Amino acid sequence: MNILIIGKGGREHALAWRLKQSPRAGKVFCAPGNAGTARDGILNVPIEHYETDKLQRFCAKEKIEFTVIGPEDPLAAGLADFLRSKRIKVYGPSKEAARIEASKVFAKQLMRHADVPTAEFQIFDHPQPARDYISTRDYPVVVKADGLAAGKGVVVCKTTEEALRAVERIMTREEFGKAGRQIVVEKRLEGEELSVLALVSGRTFLPLPACQDHKAVFDGDTGPNTGGMGAYCPAPVATPELMKDLEKSVFFPIIHAMKRGRFPFQGTLFAGLILTSQGPRVLEFNCRFGDPETQVLMMRLKTDLLDLLEAVADERLHELEDRVEWDPRPAVCVVMCSGGYPGKYDTGKIISGLAEAEQLPDVKVFHAGTKFDEHHRVVTDGGRVLGVTALGETLADAKARAYDAVKLITFAGAHYRTDIADKALKPKPVAPPPEAPKLPAKFRKPGSSGSGNSSPPSSSSTAE
Ligand code: GLY
Repeated sequence: MNILIIGKGGREHALAWRLKQSPRAGKVFCAPGNAGTARDGILNVPIEHYETDKLQRFCAKEKIEFTVIGPEDPLAAGLADFLRSKRIKVYGPSKEAARIEASKVFAKQLMRHADVPTAEFQIFDHPQPARDYISTRDYPVVVKADGLAAGKGVVVCKTTEEALRAVERIMTREEFGKAGRQIVVEKRLEGEELSVLALVSGRTFLPLPACQDHKAVFDGDTGPNTGGMGAYCPAPVATPELMKDLEKSVFFPIIHAMKRGRFPFQGTLFAGLILTSQGPRVLEFNCRFGDPETQVLMMRLKTDLLDLLEAVADERLHELEDRVEWDPRPAVCVVMCSGGYPGKYDTGKIISGLAEAEQLPDVKVFHAGTKFDEHHRVVTDGGRVLGVTALGETLADAKARAYDAVKLITFAGAHYRTDIADKALKPKPVAPPPEAPKLPAKFRKPGSSGSGNSSPPSSSSTAE
């Protein structure tokens, strides 16, 4: 079976790598792919996801029987519907179902309707009521542009002033264009983040092992948020009891609400969660595989990925539900990025040490922002450049192997976090701090002494 994967990041490299290992896979193409996909024998095709006529012609010419759409933009634009209308089998949700990620307003309303636990919120389509609402809150808030904004439309605010500035940028100055016509203002939650992805086909869903991402660019969850600086899987914080609870309180109700609403979900539904002291809350849903969550998941998956994804597309996921096998060993992925990311960064830097790193046992280097230069050298071509991923007998072992590989790879300006997986490795503090840190003055109730806590920003914004 000839397969086409749409996208060019680390997620798509990991999916293409696993799909190519299927005994049923014929030619595996990636549009447009990166240097890593090419090095793995995947055939890169220079077509962008919005060049739909070209894609259709390509599928006809190469007899593509199955297409997997990686990123959210083509899903939100309706590429899955377009390809299905041309009788090409697709893994990925319809445009209507992809609104669960493409519209924060839609997602929050659906969560309210389906009684899925999430932060309290209000929706605004004019700036003044939003300002009034923010000024009367006695807790920190997150301001979210409704639409997709290249991962930058979510502002986690520490003070009232920051929240008001976010409204100004999104609604008045229209920094994100149409994406900011409506906003969601929600209570900022505190706790550990968790990514739980499920394969969904109609009413059937199959949760995958939980992962933890690291959004902030610097160690200790400091600095601006990124698309993700590293991940590990499984996340021990996701106990079997928590996973059962999430199936019941998150996945089941949302999937059924989508089916009842006549926009059934087909593909990967990704719940970005925060584990608060009151229980898990959904920060956001994504309509696709996570990045870098996919890198650690694909490293551990033993079942044929083509069988799984095709079963979703054919609505027979129930046949495989109990037969999915995972490597029991944990996996860790460390993202190496260009210096300056998620702000401005240079590209075209020569990357060396890739072959040496991949010679280490149980190590795979997934490429994200890479390409070949005119001398066929692998050079940087994006913010997130590589996802260096390793399996280990223990999580500590997987982390050590991933970092051993990272140390063999060099490019000018390379940056990576050194603490991926430490949340699961370092013992948690047992005693509460002697005095709860105070909320910023403007977020305190008049007359209150302040009782928030000052964990690092917990809501997430993403940037590729
Ligand atoms: N790692 C977060 C995301 O894929 O959105």
